[in-house]
Amino acid sequence: MAGNIVLTGFMGVGKGRTARMLAEKSGMFGVDCDDLIESFSNKRVKKIFSKLGESRFRELERQVALWLERKVSDTIISTGGGFFNVPNINKIGTVVYLHSDFDSIIEALFSHPNAKKKIRKRPLLKDLGSARDLYDKRLPLYRQTASVEVQVGGRSIEEIVDEIITLTGIGRRA
Ligand code: S3P
Repeated sequence: MAGNIVLTGFMGVGKGRTARMLAEKSGMFGVDCDDLIESFSNKRVKKIFSKLGESRFRELERQVALWLERKVSDTIISTGGGFFNVPNINKIGTVVYLHSDFDSIIEALFSHPNAKKKIRKRPLLKDLGSARDLYDKRLPLYRQTASVEVQVGGRSIEEIVDEIITLTGIGRRA
């Protein structure tokens, strides 16, 4: 274990903003896997899906995962919703699964002031029926790969971040 915290969870559950506040509160740096993929490939996630296909995107996720395992320590890592599936997820750090039910995630996304943009940039949210199926299929796997589960629905970001800090003990060395 390299002292990393890896935030997993379904699209739109708030992994990115939780990671940013967690970084701020713990005094650790943060990185985002989708940002790493975009800078490494010089393409937006949406473009990778449409031009190169989902399998190429998953390959890039696995590449990022190997790099994180080898090179990164004491960092807050936010992930894309499918990143939990990389084979070495538990070697990267302590996996924290952010949980909310599907309807609450979608409701929060649609009522966001930037809803259109948030939905447009996520190819797997194009069809809500398939997104729900994906959620149902992934839920047990998120739980299986995580060391810690934190409930997100109906709670403030401060509460969520404080719980992650308590459960993981991070920031004590910062
Ligand atoms: C994906 C989630 C996205 C992004 C890509 C695939 C997924 O990230 O990695 O569109 O498979 O759930 P967010 O979880 O940040 O939306």
